Amino acid sequence: MDKQTRLAFIGGTGFEELPDFFESSRCDMETPFGAPSSAVVHGKLFGVQVAFISRHGEGHTIPPHKINYRANIWALRATGVSNIVGFAAVGGIDADMVSGCVVIPDQLIDYTWGREHTYFDGEFYKGSGLSHSLDHVEFARPYNHALRQQLIDASSKAQIDIFNSAVYGVTQGPRLETAAEINKMEKDGVNIVGMTALPEVSLARELGISYATIAMVVNEAAGRGEGEITMDAIRDNLITATSSVSKILKYFVRIYSEGQTPTIAPNLG
Ligand code: HPA
Repeated sequence: MDKQTRLAFIGGTGFEELPDFFESSRCDMETPFGAPSSAVVHGKLFGVQVAFISRHGEGHTIPPHKINYRANIWALRATGVSNIVGFAAVGGIDADMVSGCVVIPDQLIDYTWGREHTYFDGEFYKGSGLSHSLDHVEFARPYNHALRQQLIDASSKAQIDIFNSAVYGVTQGPRLETAAEINKMEKDGVNIVGMTALPEVSLARELGISYATIAMVVNEAAGRGEGEITMDAIRDNLITATSSVSKILKYFVRIYSEGQTPTIAPNLG
C-alpha cells in the first residue's frame, strides 16, 4: 500500500460523511473487539486516496460513551492506515474560541470513565500481532506534530483563521457539562470540550498510528453563553465550521500527499 492510501478520516458530528469524497469501495469488518461503528469506506478526496469511518455510525446513532473505539481504530489499522485525522464538534471554553471557529488541539485531558480505553488490558489478544501484552505508551504529546503542522499549513493556504494550539478536555457525555464543571476545566487549562477524542487518540498511539484532530467549535461551553445550548444553534454553527474545514481539507490532502508524514514505530506486524 502506498503512502497516500495510509490516510484515514474519522467522521464525527457534522461529518458523518466526507464532503467531496468519491467512494470506490466499502468494507464491513469484524475485529477482535467486535464490529466498528460503520463500514470502512475507501475512495478519493480531491484526487487523493483515503479511507473514512463514521464514529457515531452512518445514521449518527451511537453516543460517545457507546462507541467501540477499539474496533474503529483496529479496523483502520488492519486496512493499512498509519495516519488519522479525526473530526470533532466541541464547545468553546476559551473566550476567543467562539462558535464557528476551527481549532487544531495539541493537548488532551481525560475526564471520561468506564470506557474500554486500551488494547493492553492484561488479556492478550492471541494472533493480534501486538508485540507486547503490557505496554505503557509514551503520550506526553498526544498528537502527531507533522500531521498537525500539515493541517495548520493547509488552513493558512485556504486563508482560514484557526487556533493552532489548544487543550481539549474530553468528557463522558452524553449529557453536556454543568457550568461548575466547565469552570473547573478552565482552571485545569482546558480550552475546548468534547466527548470523543479519548480513548480514540491514545488507542491510535498504542497501534503506532499518527493522529491529529480538527475541532469545530459549535457552541459556547455550559454557562458561558447567553441562555441554553440548543441543538438548533449547534447545527447552525456546524454549517459554518464544516464549510471552513472542507476548504482546509482541499489543501491538506495535497500537502499530505506531497509530504512524508513520519509515523510512530508500529506495534503491529
Ligand atoms: N461539551 C461537550 N461536548 C460537546 C460540546 C460541549 O459543550 N459541544 C459539542 N460537543
